[in-house]
Amino acid sequence: MKKILVTGGAGFIGSHVVRLFVNKYADCHVVNLDALTYAGNLENLKDVEGKSNYSFVKGDITDEAFIDQLFEKESFDAVIHLAAESHVDRSIMDPLSFVKTNVLGTAVLLNAARKYWKETSGKLFYHVSTDEVYGSLGESGFFTETTPYDPHSPYSASKASSDHLVKAYYDTYGLPVVISNCSNNYGSHQFPEKLLPLIINNIVHSKPLPVYGKGDNVRDWLWVEDHARAIDVIFHKGKLGETYNIGGFNEWKNLDIVHLLCRIMDKKLNRPEGESAKLITFVKDRAGHDKRYAIDATKLNKELDWKPSLQFEEGLDKTIDWYLANGEWIDRVTSGAYKEYYSNQYVSR
Ligand code: NAD
Ligand code: DAU
Repeated sequence: MKKILVTGGAGFIGSHVVRLFVNKYADCHVVNLDALTYAGNLENLKDVEGKSNYSFVKGDITDEAFIDQLFEKESFDAVIHLAAESHVDRSIMDPLSFVKTNVLGTAVLLNAARKYWKETSGKLFYHVSTDEVYGSLGESGFFTETTPYDPHSPYSASKASSDHLVKAYYDTYGLPVVISNCSNNYGSHQFPEKLLPLIINNIVHSKPLPVYGKGDNVRDWLWVEDHARAIDVIFHKGKLGETYNIGGFNEWKNLDIVHLLCRIMDKKLNRPEGESAKLITFVKDRAGHDKRYAIDATKLNKELDWKPSLQFEEGLDKTIDWYLANGEWIDRVTSGAYKEYYSNQYVSR
């Protein structure tokens, strides 16, 4: 049986990746390693926790002695590395924790793989990264796999550093690696600090809907389960040493997406048309706010035959329904140490 270490499996994207691999591959044992920070919740994986090809280990990827022991004990065949600090606003407030987890944590994992994978045939270190490493686009153009790195936030700089380390381990030690850089994900189980779940939740509770600056920044949105499918495809068919961009060809201005959510939710909540849009509140812009992201996912489509399975409207509908049906999940995940920051966040700008 193949043993795969998934880091950050209790988080938003990680939980979808774990679920897909556990359910699809009975011949794989998935070990989910997660520190269970404010963003990690085992509740996200309730439906797989009893399965015989799944186990959970609580631990920190920056703890070198612990990671070394785990690699020695478990003899992993592959790693899918998602654990990270992931929220740009938090990286502006606390950059060093991003450097620690995203840069040091990735280096510790790479080094353990280098030390414990004596025979690298059949092994794979898959690093999950972001389109934010490429910086910001103007009105036109797309990020391709050869776009030069130009990160602007402490988050994206820490992810760019981790990507460079992964490439360095391939070039220097021949570690079998693959990297993917994905656009903005949306879907169930996303911590409600990120734009979509934050806006959905605030509409439900008739709270102000904070829009940074003029709301004219553009993001390219992809359904999280399509990201997980892309990871599956790249994991099995990707070429070693390569980078694959993942995106939905689905660009939206922030303000337009907030208006769209207001319209859909007025209907779902039986509110008069235009009611939720009155909650829109323009707040101070994010420092160093990247203007536009847009991914060219042609390589992944042409070489590995992946494309998104859902239209945005359908994905958004499913996503809103999930949050409406899981209000208690939101209450629980926001009731920890992070609650104070979360409940004050729109007024603090
Ligand atoms: P998330 O914040 O929801 O989850 C991160 C997970 O990592 C959590 O479960 C957390 O407990 C865990 N973690 C954090 N620090 C850890 C540590 N030191 N040791 C072990 N576990 C730790 O993040 P996400 O949105 O699911 O993103 C997952 C990965 O995908 C990240 O690497 C992120 O950079 C990348 N990514 C995210 C998006 C997006 O839109 N969310 C897009 C592209 C790429
Ligand atoms: O592009 C991929 C990246 O997408 C991932 O690497 C990150 O982990 C993920 O958090 C996401 O980063 P963004 O900064 O794009 O996502 P966020 O949801 O924080 O913000 C989306 C846009 O909405 C951005 O332009 C800022 C804006 N925004 C965000 C929040 C939280 C608002 O206008 N108001 C808000 O309250």
